[in-house]
Amino acid sequence: MTDTTRSELRYEGKAKRVYATPNPAEYLVEYKDDATAFNAQKRGSWAGKGATNNAITAALYPKLEAAGIPTHFIEKLSSTEQRVKAVTIVPVEVIVRNVAAGSFAKKLGLEEGKTLARPVVEYCYKSDALGDPLVNTDTAVALGWASEGDLARIRELALQVRDFLTPFFEQRGIRLIDFKLEFGKLPSGQIVLADEISPDTCRFWDAETNEKMDKDRFRRDLGGVEEAYGEMLRRVEQA
Ligand code: TMP
Repeated sequence: MTDTTRSELRYEGKAKRVYATPNPAEYLVEYKDDATAFNAQKRGSWAGKGATNNAITAALYPKLEAAGIPTHFIEKLSSTEQRVKAVTIVPVEVIVRNVAAGSFAKKLGLEEGKTLARPVVEYCYKSDALGDPLVNTDTAVALGWASEGDLARIRELALQVRDFLTPFFEQRGIRLIDFKLEFGKLPSGQIVLADEISPDTCRFWDAETNEKMDKDRFRRDLGGVEEAYGEMLRRVEQA
């Protein structure tokens, strides 16, 4: 039997804790009920948030694997925990946009909801202290965060994730507006999708009502946050 006992805490993020395990090739990820926004200036928490995001990620990652996208995910262990492959995270947040919203709409003076003629991939340096600043691939290579080859692979995988998820959610009555991914490197050098895919890291709009079904409900004090997360889990689990 796999020994998944938690060893030392490796990393504590705003919404997850990552623990070492007796197997150096694996980590245990625990999803917390905490939510933050605007680089942790706004904080909240609700019961069941960690379990919902764990369940959504644990449902999506095997589907992405089946679609040919390598991920760090191994298995769901409990309502809030999953086993993953130990990776070194590339410190770049990869944002893919189908539709103008959020910071992209704001900085370019666009109305939220304008469909883009092609997907846009953006990169941000993963640093809360600096507010996750937008960077380009030259910067990432110059500062030694990733090689040119790794970044090309990351972009290719990010677009494959988009090509899988966009119709997946459309079939479930959800418009996938944009999302954020993180990638990690295995000891072999292989780049794999890491982190999570959940209403914390995506914008989901109901295709019929345009209602926001994601963390913007928390960021913008729209109410009904738990209900929206629960509804997203239900749609993901829909056959
Ligand atoms: P943005 O429009 O605020 O740049 O966000 C783009 C997408 O990335 C959106 O789906 C929310 C997600 N996101 C994160 O997952 N973490 C973050 O720290 C930020 C700023 C956005």
